[in-house]
Amino acid sequence: MYEQVSHSLLNQILDELKPEIRKRDLRHFYTRLGANFYAIYSLFHHLYGQREDFTSQMVRLVEVMASRYIARDADLKETDIRREKQHNWFLSQEWVGMALYADGFAGNLPGLRSHLRYLQELGINMVHVMPILKCPKGASDGGYAVSDFRDIDERVGTLVDLRAMSKDMRRREMLLTLDVVVNHTSDEHEWAQRARAGDPRYQDYYYIFDNRDVPDMFEETMPEIFPETSPGNFTFDQTMGKWVMTVFNSYQWDLNYSNPAVFIEMLDIILFWANQGADIVRLDAVAFLWKKIGTTCQNEREAHLILQLMKDCSQVTAPGVLFIAEAIVAPVEIIKYFGEDAIIAKECEIAYNATYMALLWEAVATKNAKLLDQGIRSLPDKLDRATWLNYVRCHDDIGLGFDDADIVKAGYDPYAHRRFLVDYFTGVYDASPSRGQPFGRNDKTGDARISGSLASLVGLEAAIESADEAGIQRSIDVILLLHSMIMSFGGIPLLYYGDEIGTLNDCTFLQDENKARDNRWMHRPRMDWDKAELRNRHGTVEQRIFEGLQKMIAVRKSTAAFADYNNRTLIETGNPHLFVFMRNNPFQLNESVLVVGNFDSSPQSLTLSDLSNRGHFAFAQLTDLYSGESPTHFKDQLVIPPFRFYWLSDQRRY
Ligand code: GLC
Repeated sequence: MYEQVSHSLLNQILDELKPEIRKRDLRHFYTRLGANFYAIYSLFHHLYGQREDFTSQMVRLVEVMASRYIARDADLKETDIRREKQHNWFLSQEWVGMALYADGFAGNLPGLRSHLRYLQELGINMVHVMPILKCPKGASDGGYAVSDFRDIDERVGTLVDLRAMSKDMRRREMLLTLDVVVNHTSDEHEWAQRARAGDPRYQDYYYIFDNRDVPDMFEETMPEIFPETSPGNFTFDQTMGKWVMTVFNSYQWDLNYSNPAVFIEMLDIILFWANQGADIVRLDAVAFLWKKIGTTCQNEREAHLILQLMKDCSQVTAPGVLFIAEAIVAPVEIIKYFGEDAIIAKECEIAYNATYMALLWEAVATKNAKLLDQGIRSLPDKLDRATWLNYVRCHDDIGLGFDDADIVKAGYDPYAHRRFLVDYFTGVYDASPSRGQPFGRNDKTGDARISGSLASLVGLEAAIESADEAGIQRSIDVILLLHSMIMSFGGIPLLYYGDEIGTLNDCTFLQDENKARDNRWMHRPRMDWDKAELRNRHGTVEQRIFEGLQKMIAVRKSTAAFADYNNRTLIETGNPHLFVFMRNNPFQLNESVLVVGNFDSSPQSLTLSDLSNRGHFAFAQLTDLYSGESPTHFKDQLVIPPFRFYWLSDQRRY
């Protein structure tokens, strides 16, 4: 948009740019800057306009965008332009991701590179490499306490290794996702060290207070994230003799985004990683970016403005790069990280679908889809050019973040129901085969979350221990059912390393004093490559899971109805054990796929004539795309075996 105040400021800034920037041919940069400048100016002014140094900070901001553009490799710039032309490229069903730790998966970055073929064998073409930046040698929250945002932890490799891997991935048409931990730094970061040494410039990078007055005010309304291991939200630093805001662990210092210098530093870092070849940047803990007394300090409006500003600036330099919002918050809040009052996504193009993840687990415990169906019905439609990251497990705990109103509508009491779920997955509940552990139990609020590997949570560990073949098959069926739900829902499915071969809980973390108090490590395993080999031996657990997923991925990739264009309709079936939805091919109106999942341990039936009468489906010749077979039915009643799913097409495809 052309607007006179910002336009004349833009002209002034261009005059003030360093000569080495002014001399360059930056045609694409300037057209994008012109297009986004009014938005950038408005947001920056809203956040920092009251400061005397506003204009010089704006000049600095533009210099950062321009310098990173100049430093961007020609092939990355070509990718930017290609993606601008095919701007919906990431909504395609062809993408399937996996999150992994480079060290846990393959020792280090070169190891990971040499295992890319394994990922491709499964069908993975997007890899989220968990934090690999310099971090403290002791506890580092799995690398989420960063000590140097521009260097790689020597234990996993070097920048040269990363660049080589990113080039290799590009050749293989795989996407690279990297973390940028935008909310905090480790207390070993140079900024924290300088703040600690008394430098006021760097003390202003954090929230630092002389006494408890302000911290006490904040504490009145801020929840605790790690109540057992790091209670409260402030830590007293002995060297400074001051209090620092540390929402997560005591060694993770929260950054102060009311200081524009912090914003500019972090933008520079995002663009730095974009230039190392990251296709997607995962922005960690984005709900926490703005702090305000009297609030929970989560999901504040300014946190959204900061993300919009990051997006607008990053589009000028590296428009092909996408953002993932990691905001594990209430369902109505998560959706806002795509942006509000807009048509296309204007903050992050991708967001973790924590709501769906938690609802799927709820359905596993209750063996019905009442709350799952209700919770998804309450989920507002996404903006265009926005997509979900759908997952079953990840490196974090499972939080039971459903909406209380939905729990009530599904017929449960919210407090008792959450309690039941924690008991179920931690094996306290008698009939449960689950082997999870409670995480983040807060005695003050009664809250708890759940740790544990997928396989152990669904009962595989218990079944193997008691040599219960039926239990083993049931667990495998649940693993495949859950994956069938994330592969067909709409969005990018994100698998978690080790789940593809049924990796059980790993309790070796208890021997490491830096990990022992954080049981999320029980599901952050070291990959067992001998076990992975068993995927090649017929009849093993590993082969049954791996091949099931491999097939599912292949079918997903060739099913256009699974692309994500808000093309999903939930279907009311009257059978509470079934979760049923229709996916329509956005490019071919009469082509659709009916997704049916049975969460119960008994076979369930679905009356097909009800669906076709309501115009949902013409089921002349039903084929299950996954098995390639026609499923069993009696007259117009389709029978779905226990813990099984169907992807039903009404057109003969084979
Ligand atoms: C994110 C990460 C989690 C980490 C936290 C603090 O939620 O996923 O593992 O503990 O941020 O960085």
